[in-house]
Amino acid sequence: MTDSRFIPETHLDRVLVDRDRIAARVDELGRQIAETYRDQDLTIMAVLTGSMIFLADLIRRIPLMMHIDVVSISSYPGRSTTTRGPRWLLPISTDLKDRNVLVIDDILDSGLTLQAMLSAVRAMEPASLRSCVLLRKERPDLETRFEPDFVGFDIPNEFVVGYGLDFDNLYRNVPEICLLSEHATGEQA
Ligand code: XMP
Repeated sequence: MTDSRFIPETHLDRVLVDRDRIAARVDELGRQIAETYRDQDLTIMAVLTGSMIFLADLIRRIPLMMHIDVVSISSYPGRSTTTRGPRWLLPISTDLKDRNVLVIDDILDSGLTLQAMLSAVRAMEPASLRSCVLLRKERPDLETRFEPDFVGFDIPNEFVVGYGLDFDNLYRNVPEICLLSEHATGEQA
């Protein structure tokens, strides 16, 4: 008998945000962003890889002329659910001087990734700079954290996967945002 390559149900603890809620919220964010930039040129800078599905859905809900570019920053090495801080894999390649830049990321946790991204963009002297994340983790332990201009959902301080977010580069294709089980991380007793 061959092993099935379907994602085992035991790998996902439970759905935190289902497809309908994601779609409705991405619609709303698209409307808010379109209203904010209705009279301005817009340049979207997305932080890959986790934001790829959010980016694809969001930009199709913003009916404005826009430039889109990506950078790649990695925070979690391999099979890790603890950040080791942002590491640039693909830097900014567009001249952002005098542009109205909106940075898109998947999730705000410690805030270090977004801060690194915003500092790099700010150094290029954009006309304006805002940020948008799909998820914001509750981190009452942090005294200060940079707060984005647009936020999809506030979630508990737990490791999540799906809708672009990964563990060890897996589960990005799960359509919902789910809590990862200990069976997936290998941490079960
Ligand atoms: P910081 O701590 O820099 O983290 O705000 C942001 C980046 O870390 C990744 N991240 C996660 N990825 N599930 C993931 O798949 C999570 O629960 C999670 N928390 C943080 C993500 O790449 C994000 O851009």
